[in-house]
Amino acid sequence: MLLKITILPGDGIGPEVTEQAVLVLQAVAEGFGHQLQLRHRKIGGAALAIGEDPLPPDTIQACLSSAAVLMGAVGNPAFDHYPNHLRPEAGLLRLRTELGAFANLRPAICFPALEQSSPLRADIVRGTDLMIVRELLGGLYFGEPRSIAGVPGSRVATNTMTYGEPAIERIARVAFVLARKRRNKVLSVDKANVLECSRLWREVVTRCAKDYSGVQLSHMYVDSAAMSLVQRPKDFDVVLTENMFGDILSDQAGGVVGSLGLLASASIGGAVGLYEPVHGSAPDIAGKGIANPLGAILTVALMLRHSFQLEQEALRVESAVSAVLTQGWRTADFAGKGQGSISTIEMGSKVVESIRAFK
Ligand code: IPM
Ligand code: MG
Repeated sequence: MLLKITILPGDGIGPEVTEQAVLVLQAVAEGFGHQLQLRHRKIGGAALAIGEDPLPPDTIQACLSSAAVLMGAVGNPAFDHYPNHLRPEAGLLRLRTELGAFANLRPAICFPALEQSSPLRADIVRGTDLMIVRELLGGLYFGEPRSIAGVPGSRVATNTMTYGEPAIERIARVAFVLARKRRNKVLSVDKANVLECSRLWREVVTRCAKDYSGVQLSHMYVDSAAMSLVQRPKDFDVVLTENMFGDILSDQAGGVVGSLGLLASASIGGAVGLYEPVHGSAPDIAGKGIANPLGAILTVALMLRHSFQLEQEALRVESAVSAVLTQGWRTADFAGKGQGSISTIEMGSKVVESIRAFK
């Protein structure tokens, strides 16, 4: 199979972790006899450093004409003072929109070898295997009007949360379909005791559930869900939620399973899938060679699975990561007390070695 992929390393640790993810992709493609056609383009601060647009036209064009996009991270404090629409993050938000990627899947799994790495007790985190289904193109991130207006001292800032029934329905269906391949449970997370958006959300999700017999739907307010996620993470299967709640809960899920650096994500539903690790650009450790590439590597697995339907290949990547963890290799972000840590490059090489060893 020919895999046409656009690579967007982006900012901060993005290039370092993406480089390792691409090496893993090459190893798995080689092992299974696939051909890769990779193009590298710029996004976020990396694009702003050479131009005025965090998502230049030739980046959009390359993405739209490939089968999948693999991104590293965006965000660079050097551009924090830029107006909102020119910040690095705006490039990513526009890319998600351009690609029509409304469904963001964020699995959080506690690998058996990592039960001791969680800040939670091993007996609480053991067996955690949940999937956050985050609506990605609506809510506060995109709602209009939005502004900061008025004179200094009495300025007023406005953001708007809006959700239409079609947007709720299409993401709900993604969650129900996924649940059928898992443990048949969907937890819809909202704030229906306060927000109109959430009232409509709950109503539409409940209505959709009727088409998925066998899937058990429950609802929880987001504050309560945040608490339950640390008290009994293994009870969660599919978590369906709107954009902002999903952003917050997915970082929390990363903390629960040991490190945000381990979390992968797939943004699908449009013509071209966008694959991004959940962690950000982490400017504080960028360029030090210590970033955890496993989130980006596991993102490759999601890409193989969701954009190319290459399940065996995806599983190969996931088992390689699991094997490397079982062998005890750690990067600094999740090395336990007294446990040594290896660099980004070393971790990537361990996974590549493990993939090759399967032959
Ligand atoms: C994420 C990130 C992004 C988001 C930022 C970088 C815009 O935090 O993918 O979770 O908020 O969606
Ligand atoms: Mg986030």
